[in-house]
Amino acid sequence: KPNGLAQTPPMGWNSWNKFACNVNEKVIRDTADAIASNGMKDAGYEYVVIDDCWHGARNADGFITEDRTRFPSGIKALADYVHSKGLKFGIYSDAGTKTCGGRPGSQGHEYQDALQYARWGVDYLKYDWCSTGVRNAEEAYALMADALKASGRPILFSLCEWGNSKPWLWASNIGNMWRTTGDITDKWQGKYNYSWGVASIVDMNEPLWPYAGPGHWNDPDMLEVGNGGLSDVEYRAHFSLWAMMAAPLIAGNDVANMNEATRDILLNKEVIAVDQDRLGKQGHRVARNGDQEIWSKPMADGGRALLFWNRGEAPARIEAKWEQLGLPGRLALRVRDLWAHKDLGRKKTGFAADVAPHGVVMVRLQP
Ligand code: GLA
Repeated sequence: KPNGLAQTPPMGWNSWNKFACNVNEKVIRDTADAIASNGMKDAGYEYVVIDDCWHGARNADGFITEDRTRFPSGIKALADYVHSKGLKFGIYSDAGTKTCGGRPGSQGHEYQDALQYARWGVDYLKYDWCSTGVRNAEEAYALMADALKASGRPILFSLCEWGNSKPWLWASNIGNMWRTTGDITDKWQGKYNYSWGVASIVDMNEPLWPYAGPGHWNDPDMLEVGNGGLSDVEYRAHFSLWAMMAAPLIAGNDVANMNEATRDILLNKEVIAVDQDRLGKQGHRVARNGDQEIWSKPMADGGRALLFWNRGEAPARIEAKWEQLGLPGRLALRVRDLWAHKDLGRKKTGFAADVAPHGVVMVRLQP
């Protein structure tokens, strides 16, 4: 039944976090050009996804059309353009009568919409949960999954019902990823109306680690890296935590106009390799002492990715003993720092890191 896609967490870009409803075909073209030429494509970023607000009205036959003022050349031409750059193309709809931005939703038009997406060359659908009334989520998402399958085109299916009905318990054969939380916002922590800061999102997504695996991932929402609300230290923590959680890496900034520091974060191939490890295990917290945390992610090579996270306001020295990680207490392991890009030699019983406030140190342990 599953579509065979997303054997590692999906990577790409989505318009929402930066552009919200101010999206248009120039933004998407410029973004595709940037991803194809700035190293992102080579680093694995693949899907270029238009979020809400691309839609026009339904036509007389009930088929969805594009907003011609924002997309004068049409969605088909845009999908062709993205494909011509060697990238894949994604789009957004909603299981209710209206999207969260008030555009037409797919309820009652599921097969028609899936067919239209396939005709346009869509490779990825994010499917939201506004205006769904009393709809049952499992049924609504299974219906669209069936419609996508019937379209005959492989389309990655991204569920976005914010974790309300615990999709990790029922969606592994329906979708390739499911949002586990409300919307992320470009802040360090806390709750703001319907959205949450990065650290709060992490705390909601972390306990769900047993449910992620190849083809079906927990989605703690798209990246805010480069959107300006956090420091680079905090953005490095954000990106590292997403990699540790085997989360989809969907950039959410203006990648056509980003600075060097942002680029270095999004393009850290050693951190991306942790996210994309083919074992497909979500890492999680293994020790917590106040504001100091140690996270571990088992890797396909038998080693571990380790994250030292200092959530506090003062610098901290955080020490991990191999024993705490379920490894033999005495074992000479090679340690490599994934942000300094440095081999730190072999360590026999554990490793200690000095971690900046709100920062991380991320290493890989190998036999
Ligand atoms: C919801 C989703 C967001 C975004 C907006 C679009 O809030 O959770 O990710 O897609 O809708 O309106």
